Amino acid sequence: MAMRKAGAISRKAAALAGAVKAPGDKSISHRALIFAALAHGESEITGLLEADDVLRTAAAMRALGADIEKDGGRWRVHGAPWRTPAQALYFGNAGTGVRLVMGAVAGARISASFDGDISLRSRPMGRVLEPLRMMGLEALDTDGRLPLALGASSLMAVNCVLAKPSAQVKSAILLAALGAEGTTRIHEPALCRDHTERMLRAFGVTLTFEADDATGRYISIAGGQSLTPTHVTAPGDPSSAAFLVAAAIITPGSEIVVEGVLINSLRTGIYETLREMGADIVFENKREENGEPVADIRARHSVLHGVDVPAERAPSMIDEYPILSVVAAFANGETRMTGLEELRVKESDRIASVEIGLAACGVDVKSGEDWLSVNGQGAARGGATIKTNHDHRIAMSFLVLGAASTEPVEIDDAAMIATSFPEFMETMTAMGSNILAR
Ligand code: S3P
Repeated sequence: MAMRKAGAISRKAAALAGAVKAPGDKSISHRALIFAALAHGESEITGLLEADDVLRTAAAMRALGADIEKDGGRWRVHGAPWRTPAQALYFGNAGTGVRLVMGAVAGARISASFDGDISLRSRPMGRVLEPLRMMGLEALDTDGRLPLALGASSLMAVNCVLAKPSAQVKSAILLAALGAEGTTRIHEPALCRDHTERMLRAFGVTLTFEADDATGRYISIAGGQSLTPTHVTAPGDPSSAAFLVAAAIITPGSEIVVEGVLINSLRTGIYETLREMGADIVFENKREENGEPVADIRARHSVLHGVDVPAERAPSMIDEYPILSVVAAFANGETRMTGLEELRVKESDRIASVEIGLAACGVDVKSGEDWLSVNGQGAARGGATIKTNHDHRIAMSFLVLGAASTEPVEIDDAAMIATSFPEFMETMTAMGSNILAR
């Protein structure tokens, strides 16, 4: 289903204020639905992100045999043995949904076909197919992109190295390994988000970890384990909260609190970087909820300076470079971001989307194959219409820029924001921003 294209315009805001909530974490929401659908019996999910990407995963779980009902803020998922779906599973814009479900379908030893929107069809799927093929999966009709079909196959455990720090690939292997014969061992040289490991344990699966300072981490998982239904609560999404925090720190006079945000250190690289730039960001009321650390994030307008963002930090802030680049325009001096090759294959080529958009807003920006450099002048002109290229994070980043730039910023398409943060406009407006749909 194609989403209707509708733009939006963001004008300079007065000070932003208030206590707001970020929507449920997208990574955790996809996983909660998939794992609950694999567990035989009833699980309950609260705090689920009710955004297009996650609802696509819910629809896929129904097509695979789960019974899913929504009762107010609670989602009840009755998992059952998976069956081959009658039609292709359609994932819209959702890379996490499609890649994790490919692994789970392989592990369930059923066949299924997969498809997505124009952006998802352009993204690489070989990174998931390759390890699954090593395990014995038959992948049909594929040139490494969607649409593609997986055949029901018997899988064997493997020893593999995660060549890229991709949690989607790691998760797909772990889910396939559940249905493989033997114990699969994954070597993770650089750590990436670990929600799958944490949540599989919550669903009663045994995983073992070995850490080595020099070589990274090794995860082992024995095949043939089943999942036990449980209750999952999704905390606020730190990637979505980053847009609100960024808006506050670049808009003079602002002070906001984003409540109940996940602060798992494999996700908080953006906050570390913003603090290094001089941002006044405090994690208050830290607590643990459902095995994940959570806090309220207080952010105040700050005078910022440019920093070097080390390549090793990329996995912990991989989705936050567009909004960091916007903040960097309001800092004084150069912010240099390296190790960004994965940004080329996100919902859009984010290095290109950011560079073209910032340059149109009068910002001094340069890029290379895997780096971006923003030479901030403490302010930005704005005054441009930005092409968002089917990318929700590009759309939100430039609306945030418009809140603090001299001239308004317009985006060509705000529809994709609904894939991860449907209440973005309302939340920004509640804080005092000046954004209008067009
Ligand atoms: C995600 C992993 C990351 C991230 C994506 C969500 C996940 O992708 O960019 O938004 O939930 O596992 P990669 O695995 O491609 O790094």
